[in-house]
Amino acid sequence: MDIEDFKARYPEIEVEELFPLFPRIPMSEYPELRQYSWEDCHRGFMGAGGLFLVSEVAGRMGLKQGMRVLDLCSGNCVSSLFLARHFGAKVVALDRDIDPARNEERIEAAGLQDAITPLKMDARSIELPEEHFDAVFCLNSYFYFGTDDTYLPYLARFIRSGGRIGIASPCYSRELSEDTPREFLYDPPDFKESSAVHSPPWWRRHFESTGVARVLACEDHRRGREFWLDQVRWLLEECHPRDMEPWMRQTVFQEIVMLLKDKERFVTYMTLIAEKVSP
Ligand SMILES: C[S@@+](CC[C@H](N)C(=O)[O-])C[C@H]1O[C@@H](n2cnc3c(N)ncnc32)[C@H](O)[C@@H]1O
Repeated sequence: MDIEDFKARYPEIEVEELFPLFPRIPMSEYPELRQYSWEDCHRGFMGAGGLFLVSEVAGRMGLKQGMRVLDLCSGNCVSSLFLARHFGAKVVALDRDIDPARNEERIEAAGLQDAITPLKMDARSIELPEEHFDAVFCLNSYFYFGTDDTYLPYLARFIRSGGRIGIASPCYSRELSEDTPREFLYDPPDFKESSAVHSPPWWRRHFESTGVARVLACEDHRRGREFWLDQVRWLLEECHPRDMEPWMRQTVFQEIVMLLKDKERFVTYMTLIAEKVSP
């Protein structure tokens, strides 16, 4: 299907026609998630990658039983539940906009109230003890504030020396340029966040320039584009576009146009693992 055909028929399109273009991530390639369905890997998450990225990044961060982990911008705290359940982490689930009482219910339903503390707090104004955390995990959110040169040194104050930072986020495979098609820019229609999305080499330099962290890995994820395609598939399976809220219908439209147009795999996903260095 080409873009014009799609645009002409949206939102009354037969979504099954789109499914071959937007395949599911195959669960057979994630044996560590065998107790979860594909739907479980998405439910409650506010972006792409869901449990696929949480399990991978947490595994690469070397989390161990009892470690104190800050889940930065935890959203509905699905990642926090996973970190507590599968790694035995003691998690602070911090988010500025999500009501902690709602997360409390999810945590209690999972029987993890001793392991997870939900907090309503701004990532730029953390009221917690310094040197407290063994690790910080952040999914689909770091770029909201992390491009600020002063942010990583600020965040590092709350991590013990040698503690890890693990990030998974949308990214571009290269930096934006004047030739970048407008459809590729993140977060239409007002593009507020598009200039905060960068390439993995940019993030590596940005982290290393602070001197507070050593980057152990920072890469364009081999499944980067697949996470985007899989996310669109999840949204289409959850709800037909004609029945979506207008903002969601528009978001899905823009993501589909972007992915149909992006033949070069410009829009992708990155992971970054870093370690706080001693001062
Ligand atoms: C795209 S959602 C991702 C949520 C979650 N990590 C997930 O993957 O489902 C971004 C989250 O970042 C939170 N957020 C944005 N800016 C923030 C800030 N300055 N401090 C704390 N949370 C923030 C929002 O409230 C939202 O829950």
